[in-house]
Amino acid sequence: MTLALWSVKGGSGVTVVAAALAALLGRRGDEDAVLVDLGGDVPAVLGAPEPDGPGLSEWLAADDAVGPAAIDRLTRPVADGVDLVWRGRRSLGGAARAEVLAAHLAGLERPVVIDLGVLAPPPAADPADEVRRMLLDRSDRSWLVTRPCFLSLRRALGVGRRPHGVVLVAEDGRALGRTDVEDVLGVPVIATVPVDAAVARAVDAGLLAARLPATIGRPLAAAA
Ligand SMILES: Nc1ncnc2c1ncn2[C@@H]1O[C@H](COP(=O)(O)OP(=O)(O)OP(=O)(O)O)[C@@H](O)[C@H]1O
Ligand SMILES: [Mg+2]
Repeated sequence: MTLALWSVKGGSGVTVVAAALAALLGRRGDEDAVLVDLGGDVPAVLGAPEPDGPGLSEWLAADDAVGPAAIDRLTRPVADGVDLVWRGRRSLGGAARAEVLAAHLAGLERPVVIDLGVLAPPPAADPADEVRRMLLDRSDRSWLVTRPCFLSLRRALGVGRRPHGVVLVAEDGRALGRTDVEDVLGVPVIATVPVDAAVARAVDAGLLAARLPATIGRPLAAAA
């Protein structure tokens, strides 16, 4: 099962949700989860060292002689129950290779969580955005991670992709709530994660997976 998580605005909380979900899924089943990081923040969020060697961006830029088996070789354990496909150091590009990657991920008999990062509005001539859209379109499920923010919802409507569901990162004092988000986007809110200082502290300490706060763990476990 491949689940792609994305946002339309930076800092919405995609990486935190992706890392927490991968940790939950990896602990729940017999198989470790695979977390595919297109943004590059996952090692820091999980308190892991920055990986060495090639990553996803290098694999995407390689020629076709470098097949999908090489993706497994660049996968590294990053937390209890979570293996990371790290971003690498090149700029992202290579939508044709991304199709091969997507097929490979779909064939893994493990939960796969993809941190796609921010989807840009069209025209998406940017090669990184083409990679994101390719992986998004080939995933079994896609969830938009968003704050209940008018500007984000406006962008989400203009981005040309409709998620299967929304993870709402809810702040106190917002005018918009869950039903507004569902009305505007026409898809269900499948989890509401509060903005919680315990989550921010766990992220800053690199302890998100090791000590997942219940405020984020509970709604995501129910959604997953
Ligand atoms: N539920 C939450 N409660 C408190 N703080 C949060 C929560 N989710 C995310 N944050 C904080 O918000 C900031 C952005 O989170 P994160 O990096 O997950 O967002 P992002 O959408 O992945 O950002 P980017 O677009 O840069 O990749 C971080 O400082 C993180 O600690
Ligand atoms: Mg991120």
